Amino acid sequence: METVLSVNKLTKNFGKLCAVNQLDLEVKRGQVFGMLGPNGSGKTTTLGMLMGVVNPTAGSFNWFGEPATNLTRRKIGAVLEHPIFYPYLSGQKNLELSAMIKGADPNNIAKVLGIVELTARKDDKYKTYSLGMKQRLAIASALVSDPVILILDEPTNGLDPMGIAEIREIIKRIANDGKTIILASHLLDEVQKVCTHFAVLKRGNLMHIGPVDDVGKGEEIVEVQAYHDDLGVLLQEFIGSGTIKKENGIFQVMMKEGFHSKDLNRFLFDRGIVASHLATRKKSLEKQFLEILADAK
Ligand SMILES: Nc1ncnc2c1ncn2[C@@H]1O[C@H](COP(=O)(O)OP(=O)(O)OP(=O)(O)O)[C@@H](O)[C@H]1O
Ligand SMILES: [Mg+2]
Repeated sequence: METVLSVNKLTKNFGKLCAVNQLDLEVKRGQVFGMLGPNGSGKTTTLGMLMGVVNPTAGSFNWFGEPATNLTRRKIGAVLEHPIFYPYLSGQKNLELSAMIKGADPNNIAKVLGIVELTARKDDKYKTYSLGMKQRLAIASALVSDPVILILDEPTNGLDPMGIAEIREIIKRIANDGKTIILASHLLDEVQKVCTHFAVLKRGNLMHIGPVDDVGKGEEIVEVQAYHDDLGVLLQEFIGSGTIKKENGIFQVMMKEGFHSKDLNRFLFDRGIVASHLATRKKSLEKQFLEILADAK
């Protein structure tokens, strides 16, 4: 898969404060890449550097294998801060202006209005739009030049659950359309729902990077309960057992890589034991994220 962005030891200091510390990242074509981190972890600063609006203190990055130029930046659409639209003009007219400024084909407008589901409201004035609609228009404006990459900073900030769900659907639609997306979010849930890959930042440091799918891997926990006096001892004999804990009378067996609940069930069954409770839990991204952050202290 083609690398669209590679970041090499990218650093930004604001005086004594290190906002981004020697960041290394790679984003490949087609990924929906999430930058996850609490407030002040350096997400916006990183995106600002990538967009050429914040000067890096050190390090470098390449878009499409080359240092950023006006030409490479044209392949990137971004919704960074609250974009400025004309309140008394319609969504359509505002997009016409965006297209003109960016030298984009005005024929793209109808398509992007469709993608963000504003076609029915395109002739209404911007000032009559809800917050969610304003955010969708901003996404439409970023898409009007048909960029290869879309960058979104906290795309669902301030929206109600309905508005959040709409934006997430739109992001998925844009990704399905073949665009690479880089988004910053402090919401675990958001990253888990829309991203294919993610990086976790804490105080400017990269704490973790990898596919969202991998998150539960090797972290399967099986809960077991059975009428047997020495169940704890027996469970230790199972070769797939990692750490074993007991909580409220239920054993929690951390599975070794490659072992699953059915293997444990068979092990017990072969010894004449029928489990009265057997359940699999995957360690959630949230838990792992919190662990990553706790480890850094
Ligand atoms: N222009 C600036 N001058 C001084 N410090 C700054 C500036 N911009 C950002 N910072 C500091 O850099 C750090 C990272 O900020 P940044 O906005 O990148 O974080 P963030 O992850 O986007 O946070 P949030 O989730 O709140 O948007 C913070 O400590 C912030 O105060
Ligand atoms: Mg930010």
